[in-house]
Formats: sequence, structure tokens, C-alpha cells
Amino acid sequence: MELSADASGVLEGSDIGSQKDRVVTEAEWLQKWEMGNIGFHKEQGHPLLQKYLDVLLNGRSGLRIFFPLCGKAVEMKWLADMGHYIVGVEVSEKALKEFFAEHGVPYHEEPVPEISGAKKLQSTSGNISLYCCNIYDLSSSIVDQFDGAWDRGALVAVNPCDRQRYVNLMITLMKKNSSYLLATVSYDPNKHKGPPFYVPESEIKSLFGNHCEIKCLEKVDDFSDKHRQWGLDYFLEVLYILKFLG
Ligand SMILES: C[S@@+](CC[C@H](N)C(=O)[O-])C[C@H]1O[C@@H](n2cnc3c(N)ncnc32)[C@H](O)[C@@H]1O
Repeated sequence: MELSADASGVLEGSDIGSQKDRVVTEAEWLQKWEMGNIGFHKEQGHPLLQKYLDVLLNGRSGLRIFFPLCGKAVEMKWLADMGHYIVGVEVSEKALKEFFAEHGVPYHEEPVPEISGAKKLQSTSGNISLYCCNIYDLSSSIVDQFDGAWDRGALVAVNPCDRQRYVNLMITLMKKNSSYLLATVSYDPNKHKGPPFYVPESEIKSLFGNHCEIKCLEKVDDFSDKHRQWGLDYFLEVLYILKFLG
């Protein structure tokens, strides 16, 4: 495996051999939720979304915004309160129920006829629809297409062997000229097995580059004790804006 350091000293490479075979099963994600092992959840929401909200919204109102692998992300409530329409997908029903309970949002449940065993939990006001199923069971014929997406803890949580499949799905779900804010992480993948997985910029370009303009907005030092315990000595969050071509 060849890795080189970019200007910030961060490893960059196209073959992250140490992580490529790692698989986290659906059962393992469900167990994390059952055990409350959800260190990824940000109770106060994500500062980078707050900071770059205008880049996502671009002055538009009433957008349909997608939250892949949404967990109980509080940013769904923020954007719904601004008048946007939120669609999320998450395999853990517990996560979705906690989202509605913690924000005091009344909701109802209904089956999703196209997906065996799936449920849609929808706010009574209709502006938040959360699908409880495997993301790979969704399609644009079920959820239609989106004006925007907030992908945090999503591409980086997808098993490396499923990354291309995930991106292919995202491409079908995004409208022309839509905006996709993508938050990734950067660290030495030889020292931590993930998730979150390290997805280098070169791979983001090869996954999305034929369909989007890609711009890196910011790299933020997010190193904490948790990362030190993982055996790391640096950990960055990297935010991109992807503009789907018209
Ligand atoms: C790292 S967490 C991030 C959650 C959320 N995006 C956030 O920022 O807090 C990844 C989430 O994806 C869910 N998940 C993992 N694989 C999934 C799949 N194939 N389909 C739907 N949800 C999945 C997990 O249950 C977990 O809640």
C-alpha cells in the first residue's frame, strides 16, 4: 500500500488496505444502540453543519433534505424547524423512536409496502419521515429525489466493500443541481480499524467526481481522548460540498 502525506501531513492514498475487508453487520449496529454505545451521536448537533448551512441551502426554502444513516441526528429537527422536509433512513428503530421522544415530536408509524419488514415513522405534521430499514432497500421510486443531503457518519460508516453501492444509490437519489454536504474523517487507518472509516479525498473524487463538482470546505482538528485511546495521534474532520451537475 502506498501512502503519501498531503500538505497538512495527513495520509492520503487510494488503497486503504488495512480497512478494506472490515465489515460491521446490521446486528452489530443494532447492538450498539441497545447498549447505548453511541459515542458518534452529537447531542448539540454538528458545528460544521451550523457553519455551512448557507452552502447547503443556498437561499432556498422548503427543500427536501436527505439524512442517510441518520441515527437520531438532532440536525434533522433544526432543518425541519426551518421549514424543510426531512427524510432519514436508519436500521435502528430505537434510534428513530428516541429522536421523536427527545424532541417531543408526535409521530405515527406505517409499513412501507415496497420493502418487506420496513416501517416509516412520520411526524404528525408530515415534515419528518424516517424510514426504518436497510438503506440499500431504498430507491428513488420510494423516497423520490432530494435537493440536499447531510452525510455525516454515513459514507464513513458504510462498510468499505459497500462504498461504491452506497454512492451509486446516493447519485440516483440526488436531483440535478442539488447540494450534498459530506463530512468525513482523516486519521492513520493503520492504527484504527474503524468505523468511522478513512475515505481519502482521492477516493471521494473517484466515487462522485463524474457526477459532482467537489470542493473541500474545511479540515478541523477533532482529536480527543477517545481518539488517543483508539491509538491515534491525529484525527481531523473534513467537510466537502458536492454540487450535483445540472
Ligand atoms: C456512525 S452512526 C451516525 C448516525 C448519524 N448520521 C449521526 O451523525 O449521528 C451510523 C448509523 O448508521 C446506521 N446504519 C448502519 N448501517 C446501516 C444500513 N445499512 N442501513 C441503515 N442504517 C444503517 C447505524 O445504526 C448508525 O445509527
